Amino acid sequence: MNHIQLVEGDITLATEDAIVNAANPHLLGGGGVDGAIHRAAGPQLLAECRKIPKINGERCPVGEARITTAGQLAARYVVHTVGPIYHSDPAPAAHLAAAYRSSLQLAMAHGCHSVALPAIACGVYGYPLSAAANIALQTCNEPQFKHLHIVFYLFNHEIAEIWRQTLAKFASS
Ligand code: APR
Repeated sequence: MNHIQLVEGDITLATEDAIVNAANPHLLGGGGVDGAIHRAAGPQLLAECRKIPKINGERCPVGEARITTAGQLAARYVVHTVGPIYHSDPAPAAHLAAAYRSSLQLAMAHGCHSVALPAIACGVYGYPLSAAANIALQTCNEPQFKHLHIVFYLFNHEIAEIWRQTLAKFASS
């Protein structure tokens, strides 16, 4: 697990090759980390998102990921993904794992060696933090991602502690 690092801070300050955005299927921005990333990246990011084709009215279905450049952000790319809305999604755990997996695979496919991740679906989408931490860390620990440098940017002390305890549990097992 030593390819995974935890930081308590703002993902818009990340200097990793790719920054993952917890977006919605329209990919036109929003609140939370989506709003923060669009504000920090500038209008170019939204302009690029608009060019992403819609399939059945969605630019990015839940569990999938789309990539754009990063505007004013220090990263090379923004990988937009959509997590599950916890209380209405028919398969929240599978969709959350898929959101992390698709994002990391897409970043790797574009030559990224380091990826900054938020706690996908843990805000507006209401995913319970401890369950989300287990899924996030288990997915990032899949063999295919062992050579990636993964940094979680956790926005407050509570969620950072939950990720720390979960990571420690995995490391000792
Ligand atoms: N840096 C890192 N993490 C952040 C930041 C930031 N600048 N801002 C918020 N977060 C954290 C939240 O505290 C939460 O732990 O990101 C996590 C994900 O929360 P949301 O941003 O609400 O994302 P999500 O729960 O996936 O909901 C997505 O919210 O903003 C809208 O357009 C978005 O409709 C979509 C929905």
